[in-house]
Amino acid sequence: MNIDYGEVTAIIGQKNSGKSVLTEYLLTQMDRFVAIDPNYEHGPPGSTAVEDYSDVWRQWMNGNTRQVVRDNRGAITEERMAEYVRAVGQLQNGYLFLDEMHNYTSANSCPDPIKKLASYTVSHQNIGFVFAVHMAKDIPNKVWSQIDNYIIFSYGDSWDKKMREANIPGKRKVRKGGEINPTSYQFLTYENKLGGDSEVRGPVPVPDHLS
Ligand SMILES: Nc1ncnc2c1ncn2[C@@H]1O[C@H](COP(=O)(O)OP(=O)(O)OP(=O)(O)O)[C@@H](O)[C@H]1O
Ligand SMILES: [Mg+2]
Repeated sequence: MNIDYGEVTAIIGQKNSGKSVLTEYLLTQMDRFVAIDPNYEHGPPGSTAVEDYSDVWRQWMNGNTRQVVRDNRGAITEERMAEYVRAVGQLQNGYLFLDEMHNYTSANSCPDPIKKLASYTVSHQNIGFVFAVHMAKDIPNKVWSQIDNYIIFSYGDSWDKKMREANIPGKRKVRKGGEINPTSYQFLTYENKLGGDSEVRGPVPVPDHLS
């Protein structure tokens, strides 16, 4: 699967299904990213910790284009998340990772900087927006309508309305009792385009620095 700059990618799956491990695996292979991770789990070897949103631009211009946010004020509150998302809006050609996006969003509520990111920055600044949530209903409508790639881990035992209505071929494989179970760490990938099909993939190898 190609996850490109200028695309929106959703990583969806229940707790412990493998979203963060996949994210870290992807980060080990990427040259240009800013990872916002409220749990401070991420940090592949060679990445730079940014402690303040003004560091993002400065470090990027210094050639440190693999950035993990470690805010020096403490937790990544919604306000602080917004500052970093705005900072990424100044960059070009890279990825913004937002793990645990459900901390900040729901179906009907979306902080303005995330709206702007999905509807403008992604295409105009060529930023790949990759986020992780537990369920489809955690994804605001303004972002949902922009998704180019779905990566769906084990989903749990019931659909929410958004997932029920989603037009994703093979989606029943991620439901409880389907082909993809929580301890397989496998996932369904689907490129949102006419006539596209989904594929079961993984598990990815756990990156050395995590084990
Ligand atoms: N590809 C994998 N291969 C082997 N074990 C894995 C893999 N992915 C995840 N695991 C195991 O499952 C645990 C939970 O994975 P992970 O933290 O990625 O879940 P998550 O989906 O991000 O959960 P949460 O929603 O709680 O953040 C890991 O700590 C690891 O032990
Ligand atoms: Mg996680």
